[in-house]
Amino acid sequence: MINYSIDSDGIATLEWDLPGRSQNVLNDQSMAAFAEAAQKALADNAVSGIVVASAKADFIAGGDLEMLLRVTDAEPFFAGIMNWHRLLRAMEATGKPVAAALNGNTLGGGLELALACHYRVASDNPKARFGFPEVTLGLLPGAGGTQRTPRLIGIQPSLLLLTEGKRIKAAEAQKLGLLHAVVPAGSEREAARAWVLEAAAKNAVAGRDGKPGKTLQPWDQKGFKVPGGGVMTPAGMQTFMAGNAMLREKTQGNYPAPKHILSCVFEGMQTDIDTGLKIEARYFVNLVRSAEAKNMIRSLFFGMQEANKLANRPQDVPTQKYAKIGMLGAGMMGAGIAHSAASAGIEVVLLDGTQEGAEKGKAWSRSLLEKNVARGRMKPEAAAAVLSRIKPTTDYKDFAGCELIIEAVFEDRALKAEVTQKTEAVLAPNAIFASNTSTLPITGLAEASARPANFIGLHFFSPADRMPLVEIIMGKKTSPETLARSMDFVKAIGKTPIVVNDSRGFYTSRVFGTYVSEGMALLQEGVLPSLIDNAGRIAGMPVGPLALADEVSIDLVHKIARQTKADLGDKYIERAADKVAALMVEKLGRLGKKCGHGFYEYPEDAKKHLWPGLAEHFPVKAQQPGLEEVIERLILIQSVETARCMEENVVLRPQDADVGAILGWGYPPFRGGPIGQIHTMGLRKFVAACDRLAEQHGERFRPSQWLNEKLARGEHFYPV
Ligand code: NAI
Repeated sequence: MINYSIDSDGIATLEWDLPGRSQNVLNDQSMAAFAEAAQKALADNAVSGIVVASAKADFIAGGDLEMLLRVTDAEPFFAGIMNWHRLLRAMEATGKPVAAALNGNTLGGGLELALACHYRVASDNPKARFGFPEVTLGLLPGAGGTQRTPRLIGIQPSLLLLTEGKRIKAAEAQKLGLLHAVVPAGSEREAARAWVLEAAAKNAVAGRDGKPGKTLQPWDQKGFKVPGGGVMTPAGMQTFMAGNAMLREKTQGNYPAPKHILSCVFEGMQTDIDTGLKIEARYFVNLVRSAEAKNMIRSLFFGMQEANKLANRPQDVPTQKYAKIGMLGAGMMGAGIAHSAASAGIEVVLLDGTQEGAEKGKAWSRSLLEKNVARGRMKPEAAAAVLSRIKPTTDYKDFAGCELIIEAVFEDRALKAEVTQKTEAVLAPNAIFASNTSTLPITGLAEASARPANFIGLHFFSPADRMPLVEIIMGKKTSPETLARSMDFVKAIGKTPIVVNDSRGFYTSRVFGTYVSEGMALLQEGVLPSLIDNAGRIAGMPVGPLALADEVSIDLVHKIARQTKADLGDKYIERAADKVAALMVEKLGRLGKKCGHGFYEYPEDAKKHLWPGLAEHFPVKAQQPGLEEVIERLILIQSVETARCMEENVVLRPQDADVGAILGWGYPPFRGGPIGQIHTMGLRKFVAACDRLAEQHGERFRPSQWLNEKLARGEHFYPV
């Protein structure tokens, strides 16, 4: 695991090389192996200095998340961290020079190990990134990162690194003072060795006291001060005051990790490093065991990783490579999808009703690319290459040779049927036809197709060039092969797929819609609109439900309700939100943001504000519910609907439900997702809460028989 060697100059090299893994990670085994090797080198009189290196393409990727996900007991975990600290402190303090040769990515615990070396030299490998991504998974750098970084580069710059989790390149890391040197790729080990050799030679010369010299960290030297000033300086106080306020605004207090990071630095910089490390360890243990971190690791890391690796792709279908696709409709969605595909190196035939319409779709790509070039994010030649792949047209014959067609014309069944048939007339027999419909069931749309096995839903989100999720919808007759090949496309354009079965609103729109309609139901009941939308944001949603209704447009909410009612007939259950939408659209003509008037007013020269007229149409009741009550309704309505989707096999795996919610409508990651929320509460508590809400507010909250049976069997959505 750790290759140990000593050269003729007495320099030991400790080389990380985890067997059977592409990356080095810190876990119980690798840390124990490194500790043993390091102790041996420190104790060996024949060793004058140490180089820490990696045999893999990267240095160390960080802590082992599987291990962290499993941690439950505080005591043994705390003891393990303190053991690691003792080792790193020994490395720092015995006096032998230790250098880290950083050949590639050096992240999280890897960077922390490097910071415990006296010297850090990195290769100029353009792929290498340095940083502390822990905060993005609800954790903090728990191996000294919050203590050594500010002692090395100062409080303010380190807080940016620690609380934002940014990964920076070697040159920037050097400028900040995290690295001592950046050298041509391949020479970093030699550079580290040369530094150790020189430091060891200096140490060998006895000082005035007659004793050999010692290589020490800045913080172990007499008179050390935190660069840029400590906590109790005007600059320090300002940093923490502003940092606290900014954090509160950004996170609403929902994310303990950045808060604990601030505390670690605040408390740790007022004491010696050993006490600081202990403080950090306590906050770290608290985070590792928190529901927030477990939820984020499970959904943002493992759930996302599985989705991106196409974990539920049907096997035995060869991977499809895409060279040329067709885009039907060059409107907002069509232009965005075309841009994504062309950016991934795929030729796109962009067809619209008129040449002008098709050109307009391409022009949108041009403006995006020009912006990227102007900001220095893209070379002009690369931008030109992307643009040259988009071919605007009105001629269906140009679809010949396309492996996939994505339809994004107006949301109209008859129109979609017509363009499907026109397309299939020129399409290769094996090509896939996908619809980007947001509301029309795929099985119904496939009736217009001569080859329903090759017909599928690929539901993109707006803005399509930026939103990372694609909801893949299986029609009744869609073949597994079509699914597998469609997943290959989503991966090829760098997006994340979730797979769902056909249903009204599929999965994402259906559950997301419950959040919006619950907000409207609250309004109808006489709850203060400001309380409703603030509760949504404090719950962690990106926007309140009323503001969101304005964004998607209230007439769309109204239209979907009417369509559903028409389709379901007697079976349709009227919702409070329907009345609100009908009133807003039909009587008041307030359609939402697009017309400047909705639940909010959108003045041209000022910020949006709640429409004062709301009080007249939705009189505010004297007795208002508490904030927690409103939050509970807005959050649990999404979970209970998601559970129904799972019961109906619309969504097959909790991971898909959770990843889809986070990427699709900005569901708060600290809750894990709508199923993660149930898991965090525990099924028993969730069912009880929903039963209570159903009694108070209506059957939409009623947990189903299926959920009750699951509870009775003692089952869980995720392993406990
Ligand atoms: P849009 O109105 O911006 O674009 C539709 C385009 O289709 C227009 O450029 C129009 O000229 C073109 N078109 C109409 N009839 C045509 C025909 N016969 N032949 C060729 N082109 C024709 O609409 P948008 O927003 O791009 O939506 C398109 C589809 O995507 C709809 O099915 C919609 O439900 C769905 N969708 C929309 C989302 C959104 O946020 N806007 C999100 C996800 C899906």
